Amino acid sequence: MEEAFSSHFYYRNGRLFVEEVPVKEIAQKVGTPVYIYSKKAILDKLSQYREAFSDYPTLICYAVKANSNLSILELLKEEGLGLDIVSGGELYRGLKAGFSPEKIVYAGVGKTDGELSDAINAGILSFNVESLMELEVLNELAGKLGKKANVSIRINPDVNPKTHPYISTGLRKSKFGIDMEDAPGAFRLAEKLENLNLVGIHCHIGSQIMDVSPYREAVEKTVELVFKLEKEGIKLQHIDIGGGLGIKYRPEDQPPHPSQLAQMVVPIVKQTGLKLIIEPGRSLIGEAGILLSQVIFLKDKGDKHFIIIDAGMNDLLRPAMYNAYHHIIPAEKKEKKITADIVGPICETGDFFALDRQIDAVERGDYLAVMSAGAYGFSMASNYNTRPRAAEVLVDGENFHVIRQRETYEDIIKPELTAVNKESER
Ligand code: LLP
Repeated sequence: MEEAFSSHFYYRNGRLFVEEVPVKEIAQKVGTPVYIYSKKAILDKLSQYREAFSDYPTLICYAVKANSNLSILELLKEEGLGLDIVSGGELYRGLKAGFSPEKIVYAGVGKTDGELSDAINAGILSFNVESLMELEVLNELAGKLGKKANVSIRINPDVNPKTHPYISTGLRKSKFGIDMEDAPGAFRLAEKLENLNLVGIHCHIGSQIMDVSPYREAVEKTVELVFKLEKEGIKLQHIDIGGGLGIKYRPEDQPPHPSQLAQMVVPIVKQTGLKLIIEPGRSLIGEAGILLSQVIFLKDKGDKHFIIIDAGMNDLLRPAMYNAYHHIIPAEKKEKKITADIVGPICETGDFFALDRQIDAVERGDYLAVMSAGAYGFSMASNYNTRPRAAEVLVDGENFHVIRQRETYEDIIKPELTAVNKESER
């Protein structure tokens, strides 16, 4: 047995397994492309977080955007987690999965009236408010509904998380949060508005963070502001430090352990005595999932080789969108290696998974696993090129369950057919 890239994925006699199931068996039963998740990998990561923060009252609010499959949400609900949501759709999913609204926090710079009203009615733990206008609108809507809305102010601590610019959110020039100099005014306004209940302070500096030191800077600034507000008589209940911990994408990556995050931030937050909220997404689910795909064709152009697989950028957008690296390994090991571009079938040059990558010399019909695809994989998938979205499978020991059926062509065109019928009814 040889570990294959991350825990719960390994080779036994040259065959790739997820827990106790050979991935090829899943491919043959469910088809490809298919996302495969390891339940144990998710629960192990969760235990690491729990252990790391066990000495301090901490609520883990899983960031739904990383992977919003209902079965995954149900699993995390059973574990007692809360949720970090960013849309009405994610609220709908969370409630469907049975999460208690008192454990749901809601961030996002553009919440519509409809979305705000739904969340007010649900009675969520906190609206993580990102502008003064949002405060005013939320107050007005809560008043109309005869309710009080719990709010936190999302501050923008202007900290560089040293990650990809597209996923850096805590820099001043980004659209997120309220700048440090405007933040006190936002808290005062929230305290004053009569249909709002000020409960906390929020920040989230970015994603795929590989060095925890920027968290120190962000949390120190947050705590400084908490003390300043206390002096004015503004009291809060919690500090929410967001998500962002990185994972292993390359073989040599050494992402921080949740305990490093805890050791960095808990002593600072402790000074305030406020409860802590964390919002991990990628680090809980990213390494627990792979995208399994079948080789359709091989193609050579001189000494340039292409491996064309049945997954495309519509299934996993990260390489095309962020030029992200994903490790790719065969479902069955080969003796020979080749250097090739591993590409999808979509009509875009950006539709690649790897360029000039050294890989086992797979043949037509073989399977390749794209590793660390559990987060921002399926959740960012689309139907581009009218490609049905992949199936999703959860492995649990020797068993596996389809937790999302592969879409059919009918599924894709159904809303259009319905629209046509409605139109003709008029
Ligand atoms: N909380 C807030 C307010 C967020 O905006 C995010 C992610 C998280 C928590 C969770 O962050 P995580 O622990 O997953 O790093 N699509 C990109 C990632 C976008 C992250 C957006 N915000 C990617 O594929 O790399």
